Amino acid sequence: MTMKKTQRSHTCGELGVKQLNQEVMLCGWVAKRRDHGGLIFIDLRDRYGITQIVFDPAHMSDAAVFSLSEKLRSEYVLWCKGKVRARPDGMTNAKLTTGAIEVACHDLVILSEAKTPPFPIEDEVDVAEQVRLQYRYLDLRRPYLQNNLITRHKMLQIVRQHLDENSFIEVETPILYKSTPEGARDFIVPSRLSPGEFYALPQSPQTLKQLLMISGMDRYFQIARCFRDEDLRADRQPEFSQIDIETSFLDEESLFPILEGMIQKLWKKILNVDVQIPFPRMAYKDAMNRFGVDKPDVRFGLELQDLSDIFATSTFQVFSNALAPNARGIKGSVRGIVVHGEAEKFSRKDLDDLTKHVSQYGAKGLLWIKITPEGEMQSPAAKFFTPEEKAALTARLSLKPGSLVMIVADKNKVVYDALGALRLDVGARLGVIPPPEAKNFAFLWVVNFPLLEFDDKEGRYFACHHPFTSPRPEFFDDFINSRNMDNLEASAYDMVLNGVEVGGGSLRIYRSDVQAAMFKLLGLTPEEAKTKFGFFLDALQYGTPPHGGLAFGVERLAALLCGVGPIRDVMAFPKTQKGTDIMAGTPSEVSPAQLHELNVMVVKAK
Ligand code: AMO
Ligand code: AMP
Repeated sequence: MTMKKTQRSHTCGELGVKQLNQEVMLCGWVAKRRDHGGLIFIDLRDRYGITQIVFDPAHMSDAAVFSLSEKLRSEYVLWCKGKVRARPDGMTNAKLTTGAIEVACHDLVILSEAKTPPFPIEDEVDVAEQVRLQYRYLDLRRPYLQNNLITRHKMLQIVRQHLDENSFIEVETPILYKSTPEGARDFIVPSRLSPGEFYALPQSPQTLKQLLMISGMDRYFQIARCFRDEDLRADRQPEFSQIDIETSFLDEESLFPILEGMIQKLWKKILNVDVQIPFPRMAYKDAMNRFGVDKPDVRFGLELQDLSDIFATSTFQVFSNALAPNARGIKGSVRGIVVHGEAEKFSRKDLDDLTKHVSQYGAKGLLWIKITPEGEMQSPAAKFFTPEEKAALTARLSLKPGSLVMIVADKNKVVYDALGALRLDVGARLGVIPPPEAKNFAFLWVVNFPLLEFDDKEGRYFACHHPFTSPRPEFFDDFINSRNMDNLEASAYDMVLNGVEVGGGSLRIYRSDVQAAMFKLLGLTPEEAKTKFGFFLDALQYGTPPHGGLAFGVERLAALLCGVGPIRDVMAFPKTQKGTDIMAGTPSEVSPAQLHELNVMVVKAK
């Protein structure tokens, strides 16, 4: 077969001494061009690697080929033909798989010219993220991003294979659908055929996968697109993917091993890391008390200490206010984090910065206590501490010269949020959090989440996970009788890795009367429940198996497998912090004609 002058015999990552003296054809992009007066060297790049190409007029019968090679510039796409030869002694490059050879070319076609790119296509290059995102297709030529996308691809292949081997069926569910609540706002789409009516994009396929259990699919999975209109962060995008899973007739004890097995395979096949299973489990309450968060990074200490009992009769108003019961009879707490031997490292400015940091979580202040080299207790509130309180604090926290205590007193939610964040901040300052490249992985299950959360502002309960989550069996009675609402526990669980919630799920309510009771409790009138979820309540009455599942965040898992921070680095076309795509310029206005057709009128906010 003769090859066209657009086709290659090898990729740019393939050639080595094995192919010495072979005639080869390569295609790729010009990564670098060096003109050594009469000799032209090109680093030719494709997804697979880089190969050095030489145009040497002494070894060419056709002088036109050499003059064409002089025209090559960065990012031109070319086809070339030549002979593989060993690089001269001392010129080999051990960093490249192809570093022992070069290809001496005698034929060349420029397949595409390229404008000068707005930034060099290299991994170590300092360019504003805005510019990269505007030219995402060029940014994606960088090996870093290409390798991340390849790892993500491999991950999904392994996932599909694992779930297939475990009798799961991949089913696609609609994107144009009805609101599926997961705690964010919906993205909605106007319907042309039903004027004035809208679809909602799914926040997850939650109701759909439960319907698939009612229909007898037994084990379902989907690599599902999810859409959530919420404030974005490094680990949150408005559009993302889940490995969405649902099963019938399984409880946690039978479901967890399937999921742990999947993770074990991923870490072995992609990182060659042996992950121990089963994963440890931690009750939600313990996670909050020890770490202040429901997704603890357990690789380092700095655990929270409850000091409420020590200060139960304190005259310091900050403490006594926090410990007084609120209108619903619920008390706050006084908790702190202690650092030993490093008090001197925290200047007044550092403490001010940390105070600012915790104020983002609603903390009204951050009280610090330092133990001076002389053993004195130094603190803005020192004058309020009784000798008994000082002694109890010293004993509880093993205080000694150089110790620093940082305390937040408030309602529990604020205390946890503030100290949970402070722990990470202080951990980073002290350098005790292992970096991604340390490949130190601490998986765990956080279990027994609360079923409901009371929102003071709205004056009502919300479902902590989502409204389809079942109470734990021992709380069923209380739930049905609306008793003990603040302490009900759910059969809900999260998989956590190094402080990241990689997946979350639950066993579901499978009785329509219990589901209706849940909607009622969440403040939905029977009419609202009917319009929003009537179809679902109906379905529950036609023979619903006990069922449950979980969804993993694809981007979060991929980011951890790639050892990268922000999830946009494992997405081909991520959105900015503002939910926009600066390359395509979206969201954007639509024409009046289109709006008219959709029966939509735009009201511009002032
Ligand atoms: P949940 O809302 O916990 O559960 O989501 C499951 C997992 O999806 C990932 N995730 C996100 N990733 C990127 N950007 C986002 N905005 C984002 N939001 C969530 C997280 C999270 O753990 N239907 C339920 C699952 C179930 O009950 O089976 C659900 O969606 O990794
Ligand atoms: P104030 O009484 O507001 O002057 O605060 C006295 C000290 O207590 C300051 O160091 C504040 O940062 C700190 N503080 C105020 N409110 C809180 C709180 N809720 N929790 C912990 N410390 C606080």
